[in-house]
Amino acid sequence: MDRIHSAAELRATTARWRSEGLRVALVPTMGNLHAGHYSLIRAARERSDRVVASVFVNPTQFGPNEDFARYPRTLDDDARGLQAEGCDLLFAPAVETMYPFGLEVATRVDVKGVTETLEGAFRPGHFAGVATVVLRLLNLVQPDVALFGRKDYQQLLTIRRLVADLCLPIEIADVATMREPDGLAMSSRNQYLSAQERPQAAQVYATLCRMRDAVLGGDAASAIERDARDALESAGFRVDYAAIRRAVDLTDPVPGERSGLVALIAARLGATRLIDNLAIGG
Ligand code: PAF
Repeated sequence: MDRIHSAAELRATTARWRSEGLRVALVPTMGNLHAGHYSLIRAARERSDRVVASVFVNPTQFGPNEDFARYPRTLDDDARGLQAEGCDLLFAPAVETMYPFGLEVATRVDVKGVTETLEGAFRPGHFAGVATVVLRLLNLVQPDVALFGRKDYQQLLTIRRLVADLCLPIEIADVATMREPDGLAMSSRNQYLSAQERPQAAQVYATLCRMRDAVLGGDAASAIERDARDALESAGFRVDYAAIRRAVDLTDPVPGERSGLVALIAARLGATRLIDNLAIGG
């Protein structure tokens, strides 16, 4: 596997692959790779002839009080893992490569319609940062397909909207969330959890399952959301949101709607902010 830091070298490599008629997949990541990321690499291999993984801790998607500085950076371990999974190229750019004119004056992409609520309400500017860096990566690699995990569900919707709205000829594929045996969604941020917090963290997924069952049982969304919040707060979480939304656009369901929904939670346990979601009714 090649490891490339320069945009010109990346473009030359992927252009050569395309000229040879090879199908190229991109798996964008912020590194500190775990089994969830490697499942994306495996899905990418099934869908393409060449797989590019990017590792870039993107400063524009972190708020001023968020964990940009302490976000785990483990590039050598990531490279070993990617090589073992059969990734063909690791792109690990510097900030100056991704934002050549500087962060202050960088051109930003602001996707509307699916970003204002939930994460967008609690992390202002986050999705503009995600869309901005993903668009840059898509332009640099020019893949046939790019793969994202369903764990960051609103991010997935944002990227789908970005690609559709800007007419990019790229397929966006999504891959199921990988979970620990107790249901906790795999995430690089799980390592912030203390030994005492780690078992409690499984309550997020347990609550999502109860929310799904309550929707399918016919309970009202507002009551389900309130119960979920109460349960998490009793278990020691500070809850940003526990919500039932339409999966297609994150709008509120009407009473009686039981399919095409998603339950979403963001909650803090100590210093760790956990997010997760679960599809309801297909
Ligand atoms: O999901 C992530 O790891 C990041 O938000 C992404 C898509 C790599 C953009 O920085």
